[in-house]
Amino acid sequence: MSTTFQLDTSTSRANPTPQPMRRLTVPALRGRKADGVTGEPVVMLTAYTARQAQLLDAHCDLLLVGDSLGQVIYGLPSTVPVTLRMMADHAAAVVRGSYHAVVAVDMPFGSYEASPQQAFESAAFLLKESGAAAVKLEGGEAMAETVAFLVGRGIPVIGHVGLTPQAVNVLGGYGARGRSEAEAEKIVGDARALCDAGAFAIVVEGVVEPIAVAVTEAVSCLTIGIGASARCDGQVLVTEDMLGMFERVPRFVKRYADTAGVISEAAAQYAREVRDRSFPGVDQTYQPK
Ligand code: KIV
Repeated sequence: MSTTFQLDTSTSRANPTPQPMRRLTVPALRGRKADGVTGEPVVMLTAYTARQAQLLDAHCDLLLVGDSLGQVIYGLPSTVPVTLRMMADHAAAVVRGSYHAVVAVDMPFGSYEASPQQAFESAAFLLKESGAAAVKLEGGEAMAETVAFLVGRGIPVIGHVGLTPQAVNVLGGYGARGRSEAEAEKIVGDARALCDAGAFAIVVEGVVEPIAVAVTEAVSCLTIGIGASARCDGQVLVTEDMLGMFERVPRFVKRYADTAGVISEAAAQYAREVRDRSFPGVDQTYQPK
């Protein structure tokens, strides 16, 4: 499959792309945390489509093509069935729709755990197919060797500790992690191992707040919290969650809009107007000159 990274605005309904700026880079982002202090928190949201990326890009430092697309876009029961092909295609769309943020793409379950070599092949496929700049993978210390292997071969990596959704079948659910001392120690140790292996950032998901703070203080790389703490070096949310697309969301989600309500209301009005034949009106029909 050949991939072009520029959106062809002449054939697209999308707004013309603003004057391209230089895209942020991983080293520039990584450089925000120095001597344990992050001046400007990292703003990250998930994106799965070109139009969504266009709307989010100017506001974000990082756009994450998360494997949460399995549930959000495809209606799957978990992220486990998500494939490399799905991730590559959505990541390519997000790259085409953005010009400012660093685009990172999730490595789906089964594409990296077997060996560092398997991880490299999968990550290289994702970056070549999409033009994304970095990958994210789940797991702690057990993934450190793989992270070092990828980083040593030119692939920036974001780690992911705490609640790791791909491990739902082992964890037994999506509850917050780090409530016992042993679990808390493990999470901090996992984050340290990933950071030492060269990860430039670590998503810290669904942990009790003191653990998120401890991780942030323990590592020199960026921590990006979700259900974690405002004291992390940055934050991420699933965009559809914060836009209010779903009725059921985890308690750490703040809804910044009621998009589901707007869509339902618009669809209801459209249906009424089709049924009473008031749509299309004169403005939406072609009349003879
Ligand atoms: O898949 C995803 O969207 C994620 C974020 C929630 C961090 O991993």
